[in-house]
Amino acid sequence: MPSTAANSHEAEALDAALAEAREDYVRRNRESQARFMAAAESMPGGNTRTSLFYDPFPLCMLRGEGCRLTDADGHEYLDFLGEFTAGIFGHSPEVLKQAIRAALDDGINLSSHNAIEGKLAERICARFPSMDLLRFTNSGTEANLMALAAALTFTGRRKILVFAGGYHGGVLTFPPGGTPVTVPHDFVVASYNDLEKTLDLVKPHRSELAAILVEPMQGAGGCIPGAPEFLAGLRALADETGAVLIFDEIQTSRLSLGGRQQLLGITPDMTTIGKFFGGGLAFGSFGGRREIMQVFDPRRPSSIGHAGTYNNNSLTMAAGLAAVEQLLTAEALDALNARGDRFRADLNAMFAAKTVPITVSGLGSLMNIHPQGAPQMANAKRSLLFFDLVKAGIYFAPRGLIALSFPIGGQEISAFLNALDGILDARRSLLV
Ligand SMILES: Cc1ncc(COP(=O)(O)O)c(C=O)c1O
Repeated sequence: MPSTAANSHEAEALDAALAEAREDYVRRNRESQARFMAAAESMPGGNTRTSLFYDPFPLCMLRGEGCRLTDADGHEYLDFLGEFTAGIFGHSPEVLKQAIRAALDDGINLSSHNAIEGKLAERICARFPSMDLLRFTNSGTEANLMALAAALTFTGRRKILVFAGGYHGGVLTFPPGGTPVTVPHDFVVASYNDLEKTLDLVKPHRSELAAILVEPMQGAGGCIPGAPEFLAGLRALADETGAVLIFDEIQTSRLSLGGRQQLLGITPDMTTIGKFFGGGLAFGSFGGRREIMQVFDPRRPSSIGHAGTYNNNSLTMAAGLAAVEQLLTAEALDALNARGDRFRADLNAMFAAKTVPITVSGLGSLMNIHPQGAPQMANAKRSLLFFDLVKAGIYFAPRGLIALSFPIGGQEISAFLNALDGILDARRSLLV
């Protein structure tokens, strides 16, 4: 058979299998479907967080304990998604529950500075030498927006170097052709991990460059680690041009006590963090060199504002401090990331042993499954794996993201590997 005919036969078989898997999913998840349809009466697409949507409708989870989830139809899952990297603690850490209860007992939000915010700031600054001073926000998106505002104010310049495939929040993405959702800064969009092309692209803008905003590993972009030489090259570019180098470590700060910057020995001028540093509650923080962050010092007549009712909310501050002091320790993070490295190696070894062209990228406890080949086929294969694994009780992101949490141990990892082993044997002809 000529190869195009063979390809179209393969595509048809894959589409048919995927359609059947979706139908089966619908049959098994009537309650999730009903709740989704009801929500769609008052929210567009029944959705208020775009990344959670997938066709035909997303599962509605009712309960979580440790690394286990229960959905509206009573199915149980091992949670390998970990709230898109934010849920590093699992769903029921007693330390966080106690800290939140104690903060509740002291009164919700006191219309004032509180006793915890300074302590949390001090503990975080101690972990990240790049953060002499920091401020708190309610999300990672906001942290990046404020870091950019600081860089523009500090340098008196406007251009911002960012990277295709980068994700710094819903309003800071750079898809080809742009999107009206992205904030209207003066962005220059370069290729991630291509230092030579990046330097060429910014050549005409060197004296106008205010900031370089980069993830040390692209997270939503598919867990693509930044090459050490690339990130070091951006450090040098910032030094030569006077631009502020901002590392968005909102995901990668979990790769060691001091994030990926510690592992690489590269110190950015500013760092943004978020997610788990709020102990499971809404959180973001941006910080950096003293002379940059001082633009926010309200004692200075020329300071710029950074307001926000919930910036220092007492529940998040308490949960964040408990998390930083008791859970996000070097030992716990190193053990989790070592487990992740072994798991990713096992996954890649399984795909290789079965000669299925799928690879798993990532670092430590963060990883992404990537079927190889033409995008349409690769997407269909990724969806098929997703529906098959969900049916087997393994929950992760349809886009292939896996983020381990502390409660995931050897037993859960074996359960994932066993489920995948069976699926690869059953679906091999469709996935090769
Ligand atoms: C690297 C990175 N930056 C920024 C953000 C935005 O954080 P948030 O969703 O808290 O606004 C995310 C969230 O996924 C992220 O992964």
